[in-house]
Amino acid sequence: MADDDGHACLRAPCFPHPIAGPADAMPSDVVHPQDPVRRQDTEFMALALDLARTVDRRPWPNPPVGAVLVKDGRVVGLGSHQGAGAPHAEQVALQQAGTAASGSTLYVTLEPCNHQGRTPPCAPALARAGVARVVAAMRDPNPGVAGGGCRYLRDHGIRVDLGLMAREALELVWPFVVTEGFSRPYVELKLARSLDGLFAPDPGRRDAAAPVYLTGTLSRVEVHRRRCWMDAVLVGEGTVAADRPRLDARLADKPADGPRARPRPACVDTDLSLDPTAVGEPWLVLGGCESADPGRADALRERGAEVLLVAENGGRIDPAAAMAALGTAGVHTVMVEGGPRVAAAFLAADVVDRWVSFTAPLCLGAGVGWESERPACGPFALTRVERRGQDTMAVYDRTPFVDTLLKVMA
Ligand SMILES: NC(=O)c1ccc[n+]([C@@H]2O[C@H](COP(=O)([O-])OP(=O)(O)OC[C@H]3O[C@@H](n4cnc5c(N)ncnc54)[C@H](OP(=O)(O)O)[C@@H]3O)[C@@H](O)[C@H]2O)c1
Ligand SMILES: [Zn+2]
Repeated sequence: MADDDGHACLRAPCFPHPIAGPADAMPSDVVHPQDPVRRQDTEFMALALDLARTVDRRPWPNPPVGAVLVKDGRVVGLGSHQGAGAPHAEQVALQQAGTAASGSTLYVTLEPCNHQGRTPPCAPALARAGVARVVAAMRDPNPGVAGGGCRYLRDHGIRVDLGLMAREALELVWPFVVTEGFSRPYVELKLARSLDGLFAPDPGRRDAAAPVYLTGTLSRVEVHRRRCWMDAVLVGEGTVAADRPRLDARLADKPADGPRARPRPACVDTDLSLDPTAVGEPWLVLGGCESADPGRADALRERGAEVLLVAENGGRIDPAAAMAALGTAGVHTVMVEGGPRVAAAFLAADVVDRWVSFTAPLCLGAGVGWESERPACGPFALTRVERRGQDTMAVYDRTPFVDTLLKVMA
Protein backbone atom coordinates (compact mmCIF):
# COMPACT_ATOMS: atom_id res chain seq x y z
CA MET A 1 0.00 0.00 0.00
CA ALA A 2 1.28 3.50 -0.76
CA ASP A 3 0.15 6.88 0.58
CA ASP A 4 -0.13 10.29 -1.14
CA ASP A 5 3.67 10.55 -1.34
CA GLY A 6 4.04 7.14 -2.87
CA HIS A 7 5.73 6.00 0.35
CA ALA A 8 5.17 2.64 1.84
CA CYS A 9 2.45 2.82 4.48
CA LEU A 10 1.61 0.27 7.14
CA ARG A 11 -1.91 1.50 7.78
CA ALA A 12 -4.91 -0.59 6.82
CA PRO A 13 -7.28 1.53 4.67
CA CYS A 14 -10.51 0.18 6.14
CA PHE A 15 -10.63 2.01 9.50
CA PRO A 16 -13.46 4.49 9.86
CA HIS A 17 -12.19 8.02 10.59
CA PRO A 18 -14.05 9.44 13.58
CA ILE A 19 -14.01 13.18 14.11
CA ALA A 20 -11.09 14.38 16.23
CA GLY A 21 -12.16 15.03 19.82
CA PRO A 22 -11.86 18.46 21.44
CA ALA A 23 -9.01 19.50 23.69
CA ASP A 24 -9.91 19.30 27.35
CA ALA A 25 -12.03 22.41 27.57
CA MET A 26 -11.03 25.25 29.87
CA PRO A 27 -13.79 27.56 31.15
CA SER A 28 -12.56 30.33 28.85
CA ASP A 29 -13.07 28.16 25.76
CA VAL A 30 -16.74 27.50 26.38
CA VAL A 31 -19.06 29.22 23.90
CA HIS A 32 -22.45 30.29 25.26
CA PRO A 33 -24.94 29.94 22.38
CA GLN A 34 -27.60 31.75 24.41
CA ASP A 35 -25.35 34.78 24.96
CA PRO A 36 -24.88 36.71 21.68
CA VAL A 37 -22.20 39.07 23.07
CA ARG A 38 -20.13 36.18 24.34
CA ARG A 39 -20.64 34.28 21.04
CA GLN A 40 -19.54 37.31 19.03
CA ASP A 41 -16.52 37.76 21.29
CA THR A 42 -15.51 34.14 20.68
CA GLU A 43 -15.91 34.49 16.90
CA PHE A 44 -13.74 37.61 16.74
CA MET A 45 -11.11 36.16 19.06
CA ALA A 46 -10.97 33.04 16.87
CA LEU A 47 -10.37 35.36 13.90
CA ALA A 48 -7.56 37.14 15.82
CA LEU A 49 -5.96 33.74 16.57
CA ASP A 50 -6.19 32.78 12.89
CA LEU A 51 -4.54 36.06 11.92
CA ALA A 52 -1.68 35.38 14.34
CA ARG A 53 -1.13 32.06 12.57
CA THR A 54 -1.48 33.44 9.04
CA VAL A 55 1.92 35.03 8.60
CA ASP A 56 4.65 34.83 5.99
CA ARG A 57 7.45 34.11 8.42
CA ARG A 58 7.87 32.97 11.99
CA PRO A 59 8.01 36.12 14.15
CA TRP A 60 10.61 34.70 16.57
CA PRO A 61 12.19 35.98 18.74
CA ASN A 62 8.89 37.89 19.08
CA PRO A 63 5.64 36.09 19.84
CA PRO A 64 2.94 35.70 17.17
CA VAL A 65 0.01 38.08 17.79
CA GLY A 66 -3.27 38.75 15.96
CA ALA A 67 -5.68 41.70 16.39
CA VAL A 68 -9.19 42.52 15.17
CA LEU A 69 -10.99 45.87 15.60
CA VAL A 70 -14.78 45.68 15.53
CA LYS A 71 -17.30 48.51 15.48
CA ASP A 72 -21.07 48.00 15.53
CA GLY A 73 -20.56 44.31 14.79
CA ARG A 74 -18.42 45.03 11.70
CA VAL A 75 -14.67 44.38 11.32
CA VAL A 76 -12.88 47.72 10.72
CA GLY A 77 -9.25 46.64 11.18
CA LEU A 78 -7.15 43.46 11.04
CA GLY A 79 -3.53 42.98 12.01
CA SER A 80 -0.86 40.37 12.66
CA HIS A 81 2.72 40.68 13.82
CA GLN A 82 5.36 39.69 11.29
CA GLY A 83 8.43 39.76 13.56
CA ALA A 84 11.10 41.98 15.12
CA GLY A 85 11.09 45.50 13.70
CA ALA A 86 7.65 45.09 12.09
CA PRO A 87 4.68 46.93 13.65
CA HIS A 88 2.69 45.19 16.37
CA ALA A 89 -0.64 43.60 15.38
CA GLU A 90 -2.65 46.30 17.19
CA GLN A 91 -0.84 49.08 15.29
CA VAL A 92 -1.58 47.42 11.95
CA ALA A 93 -5.27 47.09 12.86
CA LEU A 94 -5.44 50.72 14.08
CA GLN A 95 -3.85 51.97 10.88
CA GLN A 96 -6.39 50.05 8.81
CA ALA A 97 -9.35 51.28 10.88
CA GLY A 98 -8.38 54.98 10.83
CA THR A 99 -11.10 57.10 12.50
CA ALA A 100 -13.41 54.04 12.71
CA ALA A 101 -11.25 52.85 15.65
CA SER A 102 -13.03 55.35 17.88
CA GLY A 103 -15.63 53.53 19.98
CA SER A 104 -14.53 50.11 18.67
CA THR A 105 -13.66 46.86 20.47
CA LEU A 106 -10.21 45.32 20.05
CA TYR A 107 -9.82 41.51 20.11
CA VAL A 108 -6.16 40.67 20.62
CA THR A 109 -4.38 37.39 21.36
CA LEU A 110 -1.89 38.95 23.83
CA GLU A 111 -2.12 41.85 26.28
CA PRO A 112 -1.18 45.09 24.46
CA CYS A 113 2.29 46.31 25.34
CA ASN A 114 2.97 49.41 27.40
CA HIS A 115 6.72 49.73 27.03
CA GLN A 116 8.88 51.32 24.37
CA GLY A 117 10.62 48.64 22.34
CA ARG A 118 11.72 48.87 18.73
CA THR A 119 8.21 50.14 18.03
CA PRO A 120 6.08 52.58 20.10
CA PRO A 121 3.86 51.05 22.82
CA CYS A 122 0.37 49.91 21.80
CA ALA A 123 -1.70 50.68 24.93
CA PRO A 124 -1.33 54.50 24.63
CA ALA A 125 -2.00 54.28 20.86
CA LEU A 126 -5.27 52.40 21.56
CA ALA A 127 -6.31 55.03 24.13
CA ARG A 128 -5.48 57.90 21.73
CA ALA A 129 -7.53 56.24 18.98
CA GLY A 130 -10.56 56.09 21.30
CA VAL A 131 -10.90 52.29 21.50
CA ALA A 132 -13.72 51.60 23.99
CA ARG A 133 -13.11 47.98 24.99
CA VAL A 134 -10.21 45.53 24.79
CA VAL A 135 -10.70 41.74 24.90
CA ALA A 136 -7.25 40.13 25.39
CA ALA A 137 -6.81 36.35 25.40
CA MET A 138 -3.91 36.37 27.88
CA ARG A 139 -1.61 38.57 29.92
CA ASP A 140 1.91 39.29 28.73
CA PRO A 141 3.86 36.25 29.97
CA ASN A 142 6.90 38.37 30.82
CA PRO A 143 6.63 38.87 34.63
CA GLY A 144 8.35 42.29 34.34
CA VAL A 145 5.66 43.76 32.07
CA ALA A 146 2.62 41.48 32.78
CA GLY A 147 -0.48 43.50 33.55
CA GLY A 148 1.06 46.88 32.63
CA GLY A 149 -0.84 47.20 29.36
CA CYS A 150 -4.18 46.22 30.92
CA ARG A 151 -3.60 48.62 33.81
CA TYR A 152 -2.84 51.51 31.47
CA LEU A 153 -5.98 50.82 29.44
CA ARG A 154 -8.20 50.60 32.53
CA ASP A 155 -6.64 53.78 33.94
CA HIS A 156 -7.71 55.49 30.69
CA GLY A 157 -11.34 54.41 30.99
CA ILE A 158 -11.14 51.44 28.62
CA ARG A 159 -12.98 48.27 29.62
CA VAL A 160 -10.63 45.26 29.58
CA ASP A 161 -11.74 41.61 29.51
CA LEU A 162 -8.99 39.04 29.94
CA GLY A 163 -8.80 35.27 29.40
CA LEU A 164 -11.05 34.50 26.41
CA MET A 165 -9.59 31.50 24.48
CA ALA A 166 -6.46 31.73 26.61
CA ARG A 167 -5.55 28.09 25.95
CA GLU A 168 -5.22 28.62 22.19
CA ALA A 169 -3.40 31.91 22.70
CA LEU A 170 -0.89 30.39 25.13
CA GLU A 171 -0.33 27.49 22.74
CA LEU A 172 0.72 29.98 20.06
CA VAL A 173 3.32 31.69 22.22
CA TRP A 174 4.44 28.59 24.17
CA PRO A 175 7.98 28.46 22.67
CA PHE A 176 8.42 32.12 23.61
CA VAL A 177 7.09 31.54 27.15
CA VAL A 178 9.11 28.49 28.17
CA THR A 179 12.41 29.82 26.85
CA GLU A 180 11.80 33.22 28.49
CA GLY A 181 11.93 35.05 25.21
CA PHE A 182 14.39 32.64 23.51
CA SER A 183 17.32 32.88 25.87
CA ARG A 184 17.90 29.43 24.24
CA PRO A 185 16.17 27.48 21.44
CA TYR A 186 12.84 25.81 22.19
CA VAL A 187 12.97 22.03 21.64
CA GLU A 188 9.94 19.90 20.76
CA LEU A 189 10.42 16.14 20.46
CA LYS A 190 8.03 14.29 18.15
CA LEU A 191 7.89 10.53 18.23
CA ALA A 192 5.46 8.10 16.62
CA ARG A 193 5.24 4.57 17.90
CA SER A 194 3.18 1.43 17.57
CA LEU A 195 1.06 0.11 20.43
CA ASP A 196 3.92 -2.21 21.32
CA GLY A 197 6.25 0.78 21.63
CA LEU A 198 8.28 0.38 18.42
CA PHE A 199 9.45 3.21 16.15
CA ALA A 200 9.76 1.44 12.81
CA PRO A 201 9.57 -2.06 11.33
CA ASP A 202 12.58 -4.27 11.28
CA PRO A 203 15.06 -2.91 8.69
CA GLY A 204 14.93 -6.37 7.05
CA ARG A 205 11.23 -5.87 6.28
CA ARG A 206 11.87 -2.68 4.29
CA ASP A 207 12.96 -2.61 0.70
CA ALA A 208 14.05 0.97 -0.04
CA ALA A 209 15.21 4.07 1.84
CA ALA A 210 11.84 5.82 2.24
CA PRO A 211 9.69 6.72 5.24
CA VAL A 212 7.41 4.00 6.60
CA TYR A 213 4.47 5.68 8.29
CA LEU A 214 2.97 4.08 11.39
CA THR A 215 0.46 6.89 11.87
CA GLY A 216 -2.42 8.04 9.66
CA THR A 217 -2.80 11.15 7.51
CA LEU A 218 -4.39 13.29 10.26
CA SER A 219 -1.41 12.72 12.54
CA ARG A 220 0.99 13.61 9.78
CA VAL A 221 -0.92 16.80 8.94
CA GLU A 222 -0.65 17.71 12.64
CA VAL A 223 3.11 17.14 12.53
CA HIS A 224 3.45 19.29 9.42
CA ARG A 225 1.44 22.11 11.08
CA ARG A 226 3.78 21.96 14.04
CA ARG A 227 6.77 22.02 11.69
CA CYS A 228 5.56 25.37 10.26
CA TRP A 229 6.49 26.98 13.61
CA MET A 230 9.93 25.37 13.69
CA ASP A 231 13.06 27.00 12.35
CA ALA A 232 14.68 23.55 12.06
CA VAL A 233 13.51 19.92 12.01
CA LEU A 234 16.28 17.62 13.21
CA VAL A 235 16.92 13.89 12.88
CA GLY A 236 19.91 11.61 13.35
CA GLU A 237 22.13 10.08 10.74
CA GLY A 238 20.29 6.74 11.16
CA THR A 239 17.01 8.29 10.06
CA VAL A 240 18.56 10.04 7.08
CA ALA A 241 20.05 6.71 5.95
CA ALA A 242 16.83 4.73 6.53
CA ASP A 243 14.20 7.22 5.38
CA ARG A 244 15.77 9.97 3.25
CA PRO A 245 13.17 12.29 4.84
CA ARG A 246 12.24 15.67 3.35
CA LEU A 247 11.33 17.17 6.77
CA ASP A 248 9.21 19.86 5.15
CA ALA A 249 5.65 21.04 5.88
CA ARG A 250 3.94 20.16 2.60
CA LEU A 251 0.78 18.80 4.28
CA ALA A 252 0.12 22.15 6.03
CA ASP A 253 -1.60 23.88 3.15
CA LYS A 254 -4.17 26.21 4.74
CA PRO A 255 -3.12 29.81 5.57
CA ALA A 256 -4.00 29.43 9.28
CA ASP A 257 -1.96 26.19 9.51
CA GLY A 258 1.09 28.35 10.22
CA PRO A 259 3.76 30.59 8.69
CA ARG A 260 4.45 30.12 5.01
CA ALA A 261 8.23 30.04 5.51
CA ARG A 262 9.41 26.44 5.71
CA PRO A 263 11.71 24.91 8.36
CA ARG A 264 15.28 23.92 7.58
CA PRO A 265 16.02 20.19 7.64
CA ALA A 266 18.86 19.32 10.04
CA CYS A 267 20.86 16.23 10.96
CA VAL A 268 23.29 15.26 13.73
CA ASP A 269 26.15 13.06 12.55
CA THR A 270 29.24 13.09 14.76
CA ASP A 271 31.73 11.81 12.16
CA LEU A 272 29.91 13.29 9.13
CA SER A 273 29.76 9.86 7.53
CA LEU A 274 26.31 10.36 6.02
CA ASP A 275 25.82 10.03 2.29
CA PRO A 276 26.27 13.62 0.97
CA THR A 277 23.68 13.02 -1.76
CA ALA A 278 21.00 12.73 0.96
CA VAL A 279 21.36 16.41 1.89
CA GLY A 280 21.93 19.75 0.18
CA GLU A 281 20.72 23.32 0.39
CA PRO A 282 19.14 24.34 2.87
CA TRP A 283 20.18 21.48 5.22
CA LEU A 284 22.06 22.09 8.45
CA VAL A 285 24.44 19.27 9.35
CA LEU A 286 25.96 19.13 12.82
CA GLY A 287 29.22 17.24 13.22
CA GLY A 288 31.52 16.67 16.23
CA CYS A 289 34.53 18.97 16.79
CA GLU A 290 36.82 15.99 17.37
CA SER A 291 35.44 13.31 15.05
CA ALA A 292 34.21 15.17 11.98
CA ASP A 293 36.32 14.48 8.92
CA PRO A 294 37.26 17.81 7.22
CA GLY A 295 37.07 16.23 3.74
CA ARG A 296 33.52 15.06 4.41
CA ALA A 297 32.59 18.49 5.74
CA ASP A 298 33.80 20.00 2.46
CA ALA A 299 31.80 17.48 0.43
CA LEU A 300 28.65 18.38 2.35
CA ARG A 301 29.30 22.10 1.91
CA GLU A 302 29.76 21.55 -1.83
CA ARG A 303 26.27 20.05 -1.85
CA GLY A 304 24.96 23.31 -0.35
CA ALA A 305 24.55 22.14 3.26
CA GLU A 306 25.65 24.35 6.17
CA VAL A 307 28.00 22.39 8.44
CA LEU A 308 28.33 23.30 12.13
CA LEU A 309 30.92 21.64 14.35
CA VAL A 310 29.93 21.22 17.98
CA ALA A 311 31.35 19.73 21.20
CA GLU A 312 31.16 15.98 21.81
CA ASN A 313 30.35 14.02 24.91
CA GLY A 314 31.40 10.37 25.08
CA GLY A 315 32.22 10.31 21.35
CA ARG A 316 28.88 11.70 20.20
CA ILE A 317 27.47 15.14 19.63
CA ASP A 318 26.51 16.79 22.90
CA PRO A 319 22.80 17.75 22.57
CA ALA A 320 23.16 20.90 24.71
CA ALA A 321 26.11 22.03 22.58
CA ALA A 322 24.10 21.26 19.42
CA MET A 323 21.23 23.44 20.66
CA ALA A 324 23.62 26.27 21.56
CA ALA A 325 25.16 26.10 18.06
CA LEU A 326 21.74 26.18 16.45
CA GLY A 327 20.81 29.19 18.61
CA THR A 328 23.91 31.01 17.39
CA ALA A 329 22.94 30.13 13.81
CA GLY A 330 19.61 31.97 14.34
CA VAL A 331 17.43 28.93 15.08
CA HIS A 332 14.82 29.69 17.78
CA THR A 333 12.60 26.61 17.54
CA VAL A 334 13.68 23.02 16.83
CA MET A 335 11.58 19.91 16.29
CA VAL A 336 13.61 16.79 17.08
CA GLU A 337 12.08 13.88 15.20
CA GLY A 338 14.36 11.03 16.22
CA GLY A 339 15.06 8.20 15.64
CA PRO A 340 15.27 6.49 18.99
CA ARG A 341 18.98 6.98 19.54
CA VAL A 342 18.87 10.72 18.99
CA ALA A 343 15.60 10.99 20.96
CA ALA A 344 17.17 9.13 23.90
CA ALA A 345 20.26 11.35 23.85
CA PHE A 346 18.19 14.56 23.80
CA LEU A 347 15.92 13.35 26.59
CA ALA A 348 18.87 12.26 28.73
CA ALA A 349 20.52 15.67 28.18
CA ASP A 350 17.32 17.31 29.49
CA VAL A 351 16.97 19.72 26.56
CA VAL A 352 13.41 18.71 25.56
CA ASP A 353 10.71 21.28 26.41
CA ARG A 354 7.74 19.43 24.91
CA TRP A 355 7.23 15.81 23.94
CA VAL A 356 4.51 15.15 21.37
CA SER A 357 3.84 11.42 21.31
CA PHE A 358 1.73 9.71 18.65
CA THR A 359 0.56 6.14 19.13
CA ALA A 360 -0.73 4.15 16.16
CA PRO A 361 -3.22 1.30 16.66
CA LEU A 362 -1.01 -1.54 15.51
CA CYS A 363 1.66 -3.87 16.82
CA LEU A 364 4.83 -4.41 14.85
CA GLY A 365 5.98 -7.41 16.88
CA ALA A 366 9.59 -6.81 15.90
CA GLY A 367 11.30 -3.61 14.88
CA VAL A 368 13.29 -0.57 15.94
CA GLY A 369 12.90 0.23 19.67
CA TRP A 370 14.77 2.14 22.34
CA GLU A 371 18.30 0.92 22.82
CA SER A 372 18.54 -1.49 25.73
CA GLU A 373 19.19 1.41 28.05
CA ARG A 374 16.20 3.71 28.19
CA PRO A 375 16.68 7.45 28.60
CA ALA A 376 16.53 8.77 32.12
CA CYS A 377 14.80 12.12 32.04
CA GLY A 378 12.91 14.46 34.30
CA PRO A 379 9.12 14.37 34.71
CA PHE A 380 6.79 15.92 32.14
CA ALA A 381 3.26 17.20 32.79
CA LEU A 382 0.43 15.97 30.55
CA THR A 383 -1.01 18.96 28.67
CA ARG A 384 -3.50 17.39 26.28
CA VAL A 385 -4.62 14.11 24.80
CA GLU A 386 -6.47 14.09 21.49
CA ARG A 387 -7.28 11.65 18.78
CA ARG A 388 -6.04 12.14 15.27
CA GLY A 389 -8.10 9.70 13.27
CA GLN A 390 -7.22 6.29 14.72
CA ASP A 391 -4.07 7.57 16.45
CA THR A 392 -3.65 9.14 19.89
CA MET A 393 -1.68 12.34 20.26
CA ALA A 394 -0.42 13.12 23.76
CA VAL A 395 1.41 16.35 24.55
CA TYR A 396 3.71 16.50 27.57
CA ASP A 397 5.48 19.64 28.77
CA ARG A 398 8.46 20.15 31.04
CA THR A 399 6.97 23.46 32.21
CA PRO A 400 3.40 22.61 33.29
CA PHE A 401 1.09 24.21 30.72
CA VAL A 402 -1.98 24.44 32.95
CA ASP A 403 -0.10 26.23 35.77
CA THR A 404 1.11 28.83 33.26
CA LEU A 405 -2.40 29.11 31.80
CA LEU A 406 -3.83 30.05 35.18
CA LYS A 407 -1.18 32.73 35.60
CA VAL A 408 -1.74 34.39 32.21
CA MET A 409 -5.54 34.38 32.61
CA ALA A 410 -5.61 35.93 36.08
N1 LIG B 1 8.66 6.62 14.73
C1 LIG B 1 9.33 7.75 14.72
O1 LIG B 1 8.86 8.78 15.26
C2 LIG B 1 10.67 7.79 14.05
C3 LIG B 1 11.30 9.02 13.85
C4 LIG B 1 12.54 9.02 13.24
C5 LIG B 1 13.13 7.81 12.84
N2 LIG B 1 12.48 6.65 13.02
C6 LIG B 1 13.08 5.38 12.62
O2 LIG B 1 14.21 5.18 13.44
C7 LIG B 1 15.17 4.42 12.71
C8 LIG B 1 16.52 5.06 12.86
O3 LIG B 1 16.84 5.09 14.22
P1 LIG B 1 18.30 5.30 14.76
O4 LIG B 1 18.22 5.32 16.23
O5 LIG B 1 19.20 4.36 14.07
O6 LIG B 1 18.64 6.70 14.11
P2 LIG B 1 18.80 8.19 14.59
O7 LIG B 1 18.51 8.34 16.04
O8 LIG B 1 18.08 9.05 13.63
O9 LIG B 1 20.34 8.40 14.31
C9 LIG B 1 21.31 7.82 15.15
C10 LIG B 1 22.63 8.37 14.74
O10 LIG B 1 22.68 9.76 15.05
C11 LIG B 1 24.02 10.12 15.30
N3 LIG B 1 24.14 10.91 16.51
C12 LIG B 1 24.72 12.12 16.62
N4 LIG B 1 24.72 12.56 17.87
C13 LIG B 1 24.13 11.61 18.60
C14 LIG B 1 23.87 11.48 19.97
N5 LIG B 1 24.19 12.45 20.85
N6 LIG B 1 23.25 10.39 20.40
C15 LIG B 1 22.87 9.42 19.54
N7 LIG B 1 23.10 9.48 18.22
C16 LIG B 1 23.75 10.57 17.75
C17 LIG B 1 24.78 8.81 15.50
O11 LIG B 1 25.66 8.66 14.42
P3 LIG B 1 27.18 9.14 14.66
O12 LIG B 1 27.73 8.26 15.72
O13 LIG B 1 27.81 9.09 13.35
O14 LIG B 1 27.05 10.52 15.17
C18 LIG B 1 23.74 7.73 15.48
O15 LIG B 1 24.15 6.57 14.82
C19 LIG B 1 14.70 4.36 11.28
O16 LIG B 1 14.14 3.09 11.06
C20 LIG B 1 13.61 5.40 11.21
O17 LIG B 1 12.63 5.04 10.30
C21 LIG B 1 11.25 6.60 13.62
ZN1 LIG C 1 2.53 46.42 21.14
